[in-house]
Amino acid sequence: MHNESSKKKFYITTPIYYATAAPHLGTLYSTILADACARWHKMCGEDVYFLTGTDEFGQKVFEAAQNAQIAPQAFVDSFIQNYKDLWQSYQIAYSQFMRTTNEFHIKAVQSWLKKLLHQGDIYKGEYSGWYCLPCETYVTEKDSAAFTDKPFCASCQRETKKISEVSYFFKLSAYQDRLLDFYKNHPDFIIPQERYAEVISFVKSGLQDISISRSTLTWGVPFPDDDSHVTYVWADALNNYITAIGYAQDDKKDMFAQWWPADMHVMGKDIMRFHAIYWPAFLMAAQLPLPHHLLVHGWIKVGDHKMSKSRGNSIDPQHLLTTYGSDEVRYYLLKQLAITQDGQFSVEDLEQKITSDLANDLGNLLNRLLILAEKNNCTTIIPGTITDAEKQLQMLLQSIIKDVQHYMNVGYFHMALSRIWHFVAATNSYFHTQEPWKVAQHDKERFMAIVHTATESLFAIATLVWPFMPHKMELLLRALGRSQDFSKDCITALLQEPWNKTFTLQKTENLFKKHEPIIKQEEKTMTETSETLNTKTEIAIEDFLKIELRVGIIQACTKVANSDKLLRLEVNFGTEGKRVIFSGIQKMYAPEDLLQKQAVFVYNLKPRKMMGEFSHGMLLAIGNDPEHFSIVIPEKTVLTGSLLR
Ligand code: MSP
Repeated sequence: MHNESSKKKFYITTPIYYATAAPHLGTLYSTILADACARWHKMCGEDVYFLTGTDEFGQKVFEAAQNAQIAPQAFVDSFIQNYKDLWQSYQIAYSQFMRTTNEFHIKAVQSWLKKLLHQGDIYKGEYSGWYCLPCETYVTEKDSAAFTDKPFCASCQRETKKISEVSYFFKLSAYQDRLLDFYKNHPDFIIPQERYAEVISFVKSGLQDISISRSTLTWGVPFPDDDSHVTYVWADALNNYITAIGYAQDDKKDMFAQWWPADMHVMGKDIMRFHAIYWPAFLMAAQLPLPHHLLVHGWIKVGDHKMSKSRGNSIDPQHLLTTYGSDEVRYYLLKQLAITQDGQFSVEDLEQKITSDLANDLGNLLNRLLILAEKNNCTTIIPGTITDAEKQLQMLLQSIIKDVQHYMNVGYFHMALSRIWHFVAATNSYFHTQEPWKVAQHDKERFMAIVHTATESLFAIATLVWPFMPHKMELLLRALGRSQDFSKDCITALLQEPWNKTFTLQKTENLFKKHEPIIKQEEKTMTETSETLNTKTEIAIEDFLKIELRVGIIQACTKVANSDKLLRLEVNFGTEGKRVIFSGIQKMYAPEDLLQKQAVFVYNLKPRKMMGEFSHGMLLAIGNDPEHFSIVIPEKTVLTGSLLR
């Protein structure tokens, strides 16, 4: 579809995130993926609308608010600024931040429900079965790997809860054949295709009607004409993709006509079924066109486990931001994780990629160019006569741009980055083999031609890498004395325009910082710090109150490979969640001696990297020698997570 400005439109969405906590690395990943995709389409000359936001109703949110002893609305409100700030720091250029507690959303969902009730797609019945709270999903026999008298959720493997209630049902079964027809006619609906088979076989095995209301909950969109029920959270949440752009709102008809259907819904594999089965059926029932693509990514894992707060293995995106920088983290996540698979996250690997790909390959290329140009007093770079070597580099760029176009369109962002880095390597090798520092001594014209070619290459690299690392690439362009209007079709320009630009090089700081491996350094600093503590210094009570001491229960404990001091603890802090904490007490305690013990921890210590993983706190202990050594434990069992006063 073309809008008024005759640009092709591109409407892209992220999942809306449960407003039960601040964003984590998994939600950041979905969002960065969508942002890179949105920026790519923008710089291909398309008109982009990018929606993100928060999912604020449902039992999970309600229970989290109850645990925090805060009213649900105030509870969800408290996380919104966290999201907005973090998205801004990570350069997420969204068009709208959607919240499902918005009045316009509630009303539009009710219009949708009324329409479906009226036409008989929704009916009243009785539901009795199993419910998984973390996934907000009903677990049927077909879903559950082990359907016993108390089945586990197939998606998250956690225990389910039995519920029996009168409920409104959506006639999903009536859409089975239409869904299968749709899948057949739209083989590229799910990206990557590898994930399609699971959906098709699930639908083929038979769809049951789904319960879409809850009578035991009040925190939700009230059902029209029956306020003893609220809407099941997924039925409300999925509709955000249409309500945000004006569905069932008289004053936003044009907006809806302009943007719907979505071109791309981005999500993780755990929520693919909702988007690939329920969502198209909901839209069919509303007689609306279906989205063009679902971009489904895998999980960020640490070892064998999905990274998650409840497992205690998550890394705070805010911490990564301050330690490594937003562009660097964006690059790593987009390069490291192929959307076809789950991917491993490790800080060592992150540091290694920043050092090798960013600081060495790309940053050094710019530095060498700037230093050489300055040394030879040539900051204004003009085109010169080209030879086969330059032509080859130009031809390589052409073919790489075509590969990048292909990979970006099929969601293989990591492959697009690989191809771009192939060009970075080719430019480095061109620069090296042409030896401009030697040529400068005897042939100024040839010197200029080489430097100009390297500068044009860097200009192309900055343009192609912009969707992944916008800020750093704008700095790179500035160092070349250029800027780009990324709302124009920059890719066609790169393909068509000859290399005849003039550049004015600007002195600039290093684009990227190297991170050399600092194995074991942490252990040393820990010992040194405790030895040099000045016990005579007095502190004010305010200073002491800055330290958050909490009681946690040690639920897992293992020796750390390659360390004779450290133990790795998984510590549960009750409603505060779980954390990984390292402690240098391997010589004093066997791991099994600590299991299920409550102990006192410094809870608000800045996370520190220990042997490649972050430690989020510190176990308190007394003494230096094994004979007189003790960890600090409460004298009686107390509430896990309690704050010490
Ligand atoms: N509220 C629903 C989505 C409704 S959309 C109409 C929801 N929210 S969520 O807060 O749980 O966030 C979901 C997103 O975060 C998903 O895309 C999910 O895959 C992603 N991730 C959460 N943990 C993740 C990893 N460890 N790795 C990668 N992404 C993961 O579900």
